[in-house]
Amino acid sequence: MGEWDSLADMCKISPEEQLQKMRDDWDQRARENARYYVCTVTAEWTDEEFFATGERSVAEDIRTDLANICQGKLPGELRVLEIGCGVGRMTRALADLFGEVHAVDVSGEMVRQAALALRDRPNAFVYQNNGKDLTVVPALPFDFAFSSIVFQHIPSREIIESYVREVHRLLRPGALFKFQVQGDSTMETKPDDTWLGVAFSERQAEEMAYRCGFDPRYRWGVGQQYFWLWFFKR
Ligand SMILES: C[S@@+](CC[C@H](N)C(=O)[O-])C[C@H]1O[C@@H](n2cnc3c(N)ncnc32)[C@H](O)[C@@H]1O
Repeated sequence: MGEWDSLADMCKISPEEQLQKMRDDWDQRARENARYYVCTVTAEWTDEEFFATGERSVAEDIRTDLANICQGKLPGELRVLEIGCGVGRMTRALADLFGEVHAVDVSGEMVRQAALALRDRPNAFVYQNNGKDLTVVPALPFDFAFSSIVFQHIPSREIIESYVREVHRLLRPGALFKFQVQGDSTMETKPDDTWLGVAFSERQAEEMAYRCGFDPRYRWGVGQQYFWLWFFKR
C-alpha cells in the first residue's frame, strides 16, 4: 500500500461515525465557547453584542429580500424553518420578524443554550436533530427555510442533499429555501473534518436543486466561502 492509500484509509469513516463526529465536535465547541465558534470575531461576546450580530444578519440577508421570502404575505403570517441554529443568534431576530420559527441543530449543547436564549420568544421552537434530516420537526407546511454558516461546515455532499430533500418535503409549493454553502473549492475537506465543509460549484448546486425538486433561481458568491443559493420549490 502506498503513502496515499494509507492516508485515504485513515480518513475512512462510516456515515454513522460521521454524524456522531459532527455531534461530538459541535457539542465540544459549544461547551468550550459556543458564541466564539458561532461567530469567530471575538472569544468574549457580551449578550448584547452577540445578538446584535444576529439582528444585523437578519437585516442583511432577510429584510432586504422580503419579496422573494413573503411572496405577498405579511412576515407575521409566515412559518419559518432554520437549519443549524447554534445558540439562537439569528433565531431570536427571526422570531421577532416572523409568525413562527422552528429551528434544528445537531448539537444538544447548542440547542440547550438556544432554548435559554429563546425562553422569552414563545413563537420559537428548537430541536436537536440527527444531523441529516428534519424528522424531529412537526410536519407542518412551512413558508420559508433558511440556513447560514452551517453547510459550509458539513464534509458530506450526501448530508447536505438530504437536508435539501427534507426542506422540499416541508415547504409549501413555490416557497423559498435560501441557504449558504462553501463555494471555495481550493481547500479540500476530509470526511472527518467537521469545520471545513465540502465545496459546491455552480453546476453541482444547480444539479442538486433539480434532483430535489427545486428551481435554482438565483445565486451569489460563486467560488467564494459565502456561496448563497435561492431554491424555489417547484
Ligand atoms: C457556525 S455555527 C452557526 C450557527 C447559526 N447558523 C448562526 O448563524 O448563528 C454552525 C452550527 O451548525 C451546526 N451544525 C453543524 N453540522 C450540522 C448538521 N449536520 N446538522 C445540523 N446542524 C449542524 C453546529 O452545531 C452549529 O451550531
